[in-house]
Amino acid sequence: MLTLAKNALTIELDKAATFHYVWLRDNCPCAKCVHPDTKERILVTHTIADDIAPESAELRDNELLVNWNQAQHQSRYSIDWLAAHNYSDHAFESDSAIGSSVLWGKELQDHIPTFSYQDLRNDDLVLLEWCEALRDYGLSIIRGAPLEEGEIERFAEHVAVVRETIYDRLHNVRATPGEYNAYNVASTTLELKPHTDMPNYNNPPGVQMFHFLVNESEGGHSTAVDGFNVAKQLLEQDPDAYRVLSQTPVHFKMFSARGDIESRNPLLTLDTDQRLKVFRYSNQLAQPANLSIDDMEAFYSAYRKLGRLVEAPENMVEFRLNTGDMMATNNLRVMHGRKAFDPSTGDRHLQLSYMDMDDVLSRIRMIRKAL
Ligand SMILES: [Fe+2]
Repeated sequence: MLTLAKNALTIELDKAATFHYVWLRDNCPCAKCVHPDTKERILVTHTIADDIAPESAELRDNELLVNWNQAQHQSRYSIDWLAAHNYSDHAFESDSAIGSSVLWGKELQDHIPTFSYQDLRNDDLVLLEWCEALRDYGLSIIRGAPLEEGEIERFAEHVAVVRETIYDRLHNVRATPGEYNAYNVASTTLELKPHTDMPNYNNPPGVQMFHFLVNESEGGHSTAVDGFNVAKQLLEQDPDAYRVLSQTPVHFKMFSARGDIESRNPLLTLDTDQRLKVFRYSNQLAQPANLSIDDMEAFYSAYRKLGRLVEAPENMVEFRLNTGDMMATNNLRVMHGRKAFDPSTGDRHLQLSYMDMDDVLSRIRMIRKAL
């Protein structure tokens, strides 16, 4: 059944579905409105008349046919397509890469999603599982990678594309005394507190990955903390502190021989539905706070509360990565760190590379499409 009103029509699908005329006209699928090959919109939305409406409309053979009152344009919509895009009582979801975050703390320690390097290289179904684990947990370990320089970069290219930053495209972290890269605390033997990499970018790299070419020194266990989990705890314990950290820009800066990047963004970036979208945290890259007299103490109070949750043992996993192991994190959510180590007990050399989460989600869609 089809009912026409002033601005919208209603069709009885499994239940009543209302579609605005401007929405229908904007989404006409004909070859004049959508390019048949690229699937991009050709119709220029702002040229749709303000009083757009059907001159006539009917349901026929599982299609909705509309003759518009502008330019004698005709549109045909399949009922299946309308049902899949029914926005009447909920937002429709048409993205095959959408997952759901599983928040975690210390209990994940013995259950961190772990994969074999060979399986990931040889079987796209396993690669799909890895991409989905990275999407949903934001943390994964890969065992048994070849002990060859550049392997992490080749792995990134196998998944998607490398995200370049002001670090070298393939970044070395070595602990052989005398070979330190002076611009980064990672290249010392000190403990590295859990942090996200490069919050100094307006768009930080979405995936940080590293590969141990050698890890023979004592100590240096890896740590990881789910930023979304600690943010949720902060929201429950102190909603004002959560609000402060979602509204206060924090200045981060990082430089290398190739560049000098700084930006100001809240530690908790929320999306339009007020859900946490990007978690930024790096004690070592934060610059002196530059806030009003009224705001400074509230910021520091909230910031320290968050920091204490980040370091709480119940929120942290700690594990040993060995020669040939790789680790990947969703760097927009999960912090990584390491304990101090003793370089006199053996070599430690890892290589880093980055990707963007968009590219991981892209790979999920591509593999699903191919299946
Ligand atoms: Fe890092």
